[in-house]
Amino acid sequence: MYEFARRAQNRGAAELATILAGPPPGALSMSGGFPNPATFPTADLDEIVARLLRDEPGVALQYAPSEGIPSVREYLIDRQERLQGRRPEPEALTVTSGGMECIALLCQSLLDPGDTVAVEAPTYLGALMAFAAAEAEVVGIPMDASGLVVDALAERLEAGARPKFLYVIPEYQNPSGWTLELDRRNALIELCRRHGVLIVEDVAYREMAFDDATSLPSLWSLGPDVVLQAGTFSKIFCPGVRLGWAAGPANVVAQLAAAKQLTDQCAGGLGQRMVEEYGRAGHFERQIPRARALYASHWRALAAALERELGDRCTWSEPTGGFFTWLTLPEGSDSVALRAAATEAGVTYVPGPPFYAADGGRGELRLSFSHLAEGEYDEAVRRFASVL
Ligand SMILES: Cc1ncc(COP(=O)(O)O)c(C=O)c1O
Repeated sequence: MYEFARRAQNRGAAELATILAGPPPGALSMSGGFPNPATFPTADLDEIVARLLRDEPGVALQYAPSEGIPSVREYLIDRQERLQGRRPEPEALTVTSGGMECIALLCQSLLDPGDTVAVEAPTYLGALMAFAAAEAEVVGIPMDASGLVVDALAERLEAGARPKFLYVIPEYQNPSGWTLELDRRNALIELCRRHGVLIVEDVAYREMAFDDATSLPSLWSLGPDVVLQAGTFSKIFCPGVRLGWAAGPANVVAQLAAAKQLTDQCAGGLGQRMVEEYGRAGHFERQIPRARALYASHWRALAAALERELGDRCTWSEPTGGFFTWLTLPEGSDSVALRAAATEAGVTYVPGPPFYAADGGRGELRLSFSHLAEGEYDEAVRRFASVL
């Protein structure tokens, strides 16, 4: 038989494949972080794509520079300045084929086998899989409702830990739903600057606040010398285009663009120009508030159902945006063991363990409120409660 590479054997892979394959027929899925299709701007895209194919097939259907189509890069640089209050130099931003590709490019650029990466515990399963595949040692730093416990990272660094980078999701974290508070943001930048540790900031959910409250400054805007920001259009536009960006220190960005020549060489031109045209026409300013309102009302529906069905038995995080809440089961319950019965009862979720690099998570699970219709959360939680 064939002998597979060491890096091919990593334990999260089956979990992600299950999520991407979708729920079994009839099941109500609270598993994946799939954006709700009701937020997909099909009518506007219909017109934009027709125009791009008619007027500029030589750009939209052609290979593009690894760093991105020049006009798209300009648009992204402007957008970064508008939304985050800091303008990246042209060499400090590059286009990627989504957030996950940016993580993969970082692994290729920064990690040798045996290198250490620090992460929030719990954290995004896809990132953990990438770090495992790069044969990195992953160190989990605890979180609480205010985000990463920066003091715990400080202790690790002061004890001599030397991670190649720290991976964090500061807003509406996947899977916990928690947001990193302002004081900790400032402390984190200062700490990592002092120890020479690169911060990789994944802003996948940053623009998905439930309300209009002023958003916290991005880590990149606070410390562009020590932060590499990985952004994506998957949650605010649609994952089908596979488009994102990396912004940060020019030497890191240049390595990412070079590494991209070993993956897909360039992000698809059609998707790049679709995002640019959509954005320049001002559609994001109209569409994103609608999407945010939809997820906010989904969360209210899920929270009410949780309170009603599980309020006396479980606790859960209170997200202020994004797609997820993190639920803690009663003492002695096991989210892995419960899963088969839950699926049988017609409801799916992701058990806690795949979100940890080390042991942990059996008493926890992630619920997504992005994908079901608003009226389905009641029934989904009822099914789960009956199994519990
Ligand atoms: C925190 C986080 N980062 C990155 C991604 C991947 O995004 P993309 O579709 O851009 O690869 C996801 C998707 O679920 C995510 O939750």
